[in-house]
Amino acid sequence: PAGKAASGPHRKPLTETGKAGSSARHEPVSGADVNGPTRRFTLTAGTARIEAGGAEVDAWAFNGQVPGPEIAATVGDLIEVTLRNRDIDRGVTLHWHGYDVPNDQDGVPGVTQDAVLPGREFVYRFRADQAGTYWYHTHSVSDVGVRMGLYGVLVVRPRPAGGVEVTVPVHTLAGHLLPAPAVATAAPGTPVRLRLINTDDTTHRYAVTGAPFHVAAIDGVDLRGPSPLSERALLIPAGGRYDVVTTAPAALSVDGREVWSTGTPSAGTADWPVFDPLAYGTTANRPWSRFDRSFTLVLDRGLDLRGLLPRYAHTVNGAAAPDIPAQTVRDGDVVKFTIVNRSLVAHPWHLHGHHVLVLARDGRPATGSPLWLDSFDVRPGEVWEVAFEADNPGVWANHCHNLPHADAGMMLHLAYE
Ligand code: C2O
Ligand code: CU
Repeated sequence: PAGKAASGPHRKPLTETGKAGSSARHEPVSGADVNGPTRRFTLTAGTARIEAGGAEVDAWAFNGQVPGPEIAATVGDLIEVTLRNRDIDRGVTLHWHGYDVPNDQDGVPGVTQDAVLPGREFVYRFRADQAGTYWYHTHSVSDVGVRMGLYGVLVVRPRPAGGVEVTVPVHTLAGHLLPAPAVATAAPGTPVRLRLINTDDTTHRYAVTGAPFHVAAIDGVDLRGPSPLSERALLIPAGGRYDVVTTAPAALSVDGREVWSTGTPSAGTADWPVFDPLAYGTTANRPWSRFDRSFTLVLDRGLDLRGLLPRYAHTVNGAAAPDIPAQTVRDGDVVKFTIVNRSLVAHPWHLHGHHVLVLARDGRPATGSPLWLDSFDVRPGEVWEVAFEADNPGVWANHCHNLPHADAGMMLHLAYE
């Protein structure tokens, strides 16, 4: 019974022994096993001048726009994206943030592919087998590339899809918050889903005003039952997504940026309490009673003495990339990570290729809906215990999504033996 509860959001149920049944979803895609239509996109990366905050600023853009085109598909579709690089000298790739794609489609240069240099292209193909809110971004020199604009929204809708939606990717370009891309309207009473996406390096505090709302999904995974809240602020970590549901009001705003019809957002959200997805409800989730592998990651700051001049590095277990040993697992292992933040800043943790189930924070079991995350803030002094089933073989990046931190050492790998 414990094993059954442990099966992940997109996973087959575990067997009695805690091992996963064999999964077809990571097998290479061939024409024969495609059961939905192929959705084809072409993304061309290039330098561009983009309007932000009333000025034209230098940016790096997909198809001349920031964010890049929305990649939308329905569960069962095959997504095929041709990435071309026009003139980004340092190369580009596409990483499908939060989408648990087969390893060779994960877009990490030097690990799963070479960066795509100017004049070259790379074709990504993966099955849309998880509905939800995701995003894509370059993973080549990502601390610069994402900030400069090489990102976009990836949405996979269930079949059939219902209601009206607005995607709200939040991004700061050259110091300016980009406007919400879509303003929508519908008859009052229509169900509305806002897909809030934080594509910046640091936590954003979101306030949705104009109508009471519930959180329906986090990091692309539906909560089990809507969260009990309205008039709560949402803290979304770098890379994270919250889906918020409400019914169509006269006007709806996210952080004062109108996303719905016309009207005046209500003021005074600064003192709203913050919704804590780990600590509502009373039911604790302790699905696994044993772990095949357990790892501890101690996040800190240290001096990197390898260069000509000493510089500060963001470290994991006292080491900085590329000197942090990979953590190895076997296919089918149930793996636990304990992540300890001994530094003075938050580290938004992101494991590629898997969602992790939150077990506890600071020794207190997580309550509320089981929370399967791919991006979570480990704040100064916090200790997070998370676990997942190793069911997606390959070599996966495991890093802080404050991307300058990752560039300054806070990046390691999870490797299947
Ligand atoms: Cu969104 Cu390794 O990244
Ligand atoms: Cu960090």
